[in-house]
Amino acid sequence: MNNIEWSKLPFGYVKTHYNVRCYYRDGKWGEIEVSSDEYINIHMAATCLHYGQEAFEGLKVFTGKDGTLRVFRWDENAKRMINSAKGVVMAEPPMELFLKMLEKVVHLNKDFVPPYGTGASLYVRPMLIGTGPQVGVSPAKEYLFLIFVGPVGPYFKDGFKPVKVQIVRDVDRAAPHGTGRFKVGGNYAASLSSVVRAHAEGYGTVLYLDAKEKKYIDEAGPANFFGIKNNTYITPDSSSILPSITNMSLRQLAADMGLKVEMRPVPVEELHTLEEAGACGTAAVITPIGEITDRETGEKYTFGKEPGTVSTKLYQTLQGMQYGDIPDKFGWIHVIK
Ligand code: PLP
Ligand code: COI
Repeated sequence: MNNIEWSKLPFGYVKTHYNVRCYYRDGKWGEIEVSSDEYINIHMAATCLHYGQEAFEGLKVFTGKDGTLRVFRWDENAKRMINSAKGVVMAEPPMELFLKMLEKVVHLNKDFVPPYGTGASLYVRPMLIGTGPQVGVSPAKEYLFLIFVGPVGPYFKDGFKPVKVQIVRDVDRAAPHGTGRFKVGGNYAASLSSVVRAHAEGYGTVLYLDAKEKKYIDEAGPANFFGIKNNTYITPDSSSILPSITNMSLRQLAADMGLKVEMRPVPVEELHTLEEAGACGTAAVITPIGEITDRETGEKYTFGKEPGTVSTKLYQTLQGMQYGDIPDKFGWIHVIK
């Protein structure tokens, strides 16, 4: 066992017992390997190091009241990883391999899954990298698919409390026909300078606008954006944002609660009319947004110091399903036996 103070965990790296790995060589995936090594040994000319052939995923495992371990919508993460692999021309890890490795790594690190009632969960980080050497710009012939896990607490340190967000216009995370819709490392590299600056200037994260016109909201640094007004759940439709599995789930939960759901371009000025705003994602869950400041224009949009009623209801329903307190009527939960 370990001495982790589960309810005080931040969102960060924690060393666990094992990770699982599978190599793609000679046109096929090999056997699943279990490793206790936190390091990987790769060729210095590996394409992940030079040309960004890298994709990752993020999903969570939750302990229920009765000790049942539940993973949320793993199949959507597996599909998105395949899509990201296609996006930067990497070998695609099959869905069955994804699930087998996921179950294995959770079993091997069972005592790192936070107990029920601590607010923490086990974060699962699958990653896919081009390991084969190339010096010219072309895809590798060899890949490593690896999954590691670690217990985490809230991504934004205050948890379900409104955060301050900064609109940036001088940095773009992704272009309209670029890689924004894939979960590849390059998007996060592009975001780092603005995220670090926003933190230094007192904000929880940044909000990007569409790179072409700077008229519409794209998404937050590590999460999608949504707003609530007139009994409607509104979220941006954009080719340069990550298709969030949390957002997809919230659209369904909102519709199920009787809200209208609109996925469409969201003009920045519309922020003035929103009753509630939030960021959503696996790490962020739902993080209410209290205030948005446009760094360039100085315009301020405020949504209150407490979470809104609709955001709260969505948060409680989503977390209730994930921890098993509310029945899973959509078939989103996979129990790890
Ligand atoms: N947008 C970005 C840029 C992200 O990194 C994430 C996190 O995965 C999300 C949105 C939310 O996606 P999901 O709900 O699938 O975790
Ligand atoms: C997630 O929510 O899983 C993410 O990947 C967001 C961030 C940690 C990159």
